Amino acid sequence: MSIRILGTGSYVPEKIVTNDDLAKLVDTSDEWIMQRVGVKERHVSEGETAADMAAKAAERAIESAGLKGEDIDLIIAASISGETLSPTVAGMVQKKIGATCPAFDVNSACSGFLFALDTAVSYMMRGYKNILVIGAERLSKLVDWTDRSTCVIFGDGAGAFVIAPGDGYLSSKLYTSGDNSVIEIPSFGGSSPFYKADLKHPYIFMDGQETFKFAVNKIVEDIKEVTAAANLTLDDIDYVVTHQANIRIMEFASKRLKVPKEKFVINIDKYGNTSSASVAIAFDELNRSGRLKRGDKIVMSAFGGGLSSAACVIEW
Ligand code: ACO
Repeated sequence: MSIRILGTGSYVPEKIVTNDDLAKLVDTSDEWIMQRVGVKERHVSEGETAADMAAKAAERAIESAGLKGEDIDLIIAASISGETLSPTVAGMVQKKIGATCPAFDVNSACSGFLFALDTAVSYMMRGYKNILVIGAERLSKLVDWTDRSTCVIFGDGAGAFVIAPGDGYLSSKLYTSGDNSVIEIPSFGGSSPFYKADLKHPYIFMDGQETFKFAVNKIVEDIKEVTAAANLTLDDIDYVVTHQANIRIMEFASKRLKVPKEKFVINIDKYGNTSSASVAIAFDELNRSGRLKRGDKIVMSAFGGGLSSAACVIEW
């Protein structure tokens, strides 16, 4: 047994920060950001937490599934930017949507949502019925807003799926290569009198070029592997929904895979890189655009901190 997607939802905070707004904070320009990254604007929290955004995306997904909060029997949230380690983002969502089911978080940075979805598929095989899977991030609180090489990239938001038993999860792949030299995302240092907390990087640290190389290699390799594992060819794929990290990464993948760019769902211009929320938000936009037809094959692919990557093929 596998899963089908019953409903999707997403949410971004109201405040929009444009490239021109950022050019007032750091030495950058709309032209550089559009050419090198492909972001025009991003949504930034003015107080909403990752859990607040997660709950709003979840409510939309539950509504589109035709269910109520109390119908959900498991919640798995992916996040690196929850306000607290405990309660978890998933736990906070449980309370906000009126569910009473178990709820827990997984963390695999930008690949987190696909790790959470894959985990949910395993739980489905154990008899769970309606599982809520969320990716939610308030990266604006982890970014150094004086560092032009990172602050122009990221944005805040959340996306969610409600999944139910079905036969639409055709293949998947998870990858981790534990290492902190390319990307490091800090956590609370503590105030123990017995050792000096040594936070090397107080904010998100990313070696952009190394991350770029990792991303372009993994996205191509992962998409080829999961497509073959689903007994499909790339021609059979109707849509490609990848992590929105850099427009050039998606263009590279399109060229290397020989999959037309029109099949890629691209919304990085509006939201920037929302880490674990990005694939879920892009998928929700695809779903709500009305373009999906029963039987469509969609490949999802994400990569990022960890280093990690994940991909899967689903049938709509
Ligand atoms: N505005 C203007 N100039 C800038 C900016 C900016 N915002 N940022 C950097 N520059 C400058 C640099 O200082 C450098 O100047 P120099 O040549 O005088 O030294 C020049 O632009 C080129 O810098 P690079 O770092 O080589 O720029 P690059 O083209 O590699 O773009 C970027 C940087 C956008 C970060 C790119 O490397 C990238 O997208 N990497 C992948 C990111 C990614 O996939 N992240 C996903 C995971 S994130 C996670 O998991 C949390």
